[in-house]
Amino acid sequence: MIEILVADITTLHVDAIVNAANSALAGGSGVDGAIHRAAGPLLARAAVRLAPCPPGEAVITPGFDLPARYVIHTVGPVWTGGSRDEPAILESAYERSFAVALAQGDIRTIAFPAISTGVYGFPKALAARIAMGAMRRHDAAFQRIIACAFDARTAALYTSALAAR
Ligand code: APR
Repeated sequence: MIEILVADITTLHVDAIVNAANSALAGGSGVDGAIHRAAGPLLARAAVRLAPCPPGEAVITPGFDLPARYVIHTVGPVWTGGSRDEPAILESAYERSFAVALAQGDIRTIAFPAISTGVYGFPKALAARIAMGAMRRHDAAFQRIIACAFDARTAALYTSALAAR
């Protein structure tokens, strides 16, 4: 089941949350900063060992002090106008995150932030369509897939992207 929520992803009691990270995996601003603050310093220690993570790829660590048992760190594309495969790289960030979750074997509930739509500048409506496409493809394999928006506009874009088939 795909659920659209407006929430702080660090508060969600799910098996895994996805982090919109950068390739160094050492933390940053936005959702990445919030996740690292809530998980505690062990998260950065575990994540940097798995760096660098190229755009469109994903790696997994424990969730440490988070309510979520795992963090899947993925790196979305920086939007530079759309001619550098940004949509395909964003789709790959979702696909690789799902693949890592499935390979872990005990992840039935997973929450995603709106990858690349903050500091990385990806257009929010196109990102919402790409996110919903990926979530629909994996819906049957999970008990809950949460599209975690941080603002009402993003949630509305998810709702219309999910309705448009
Ligand atoms: N919970 C859920 N969503 C959040 C939260 C939160 N606590 N904080 C921010 N967001 C939302 C933003 O509103 C935005 O829609 O996450 C989305 C992604 O924004 P960013 O965090 O800026 O991520 P991104 O655009 O992928 O840029 C990644 O930012 O700081 C970094 O280290 C990170 O360099 C990397 C870059």
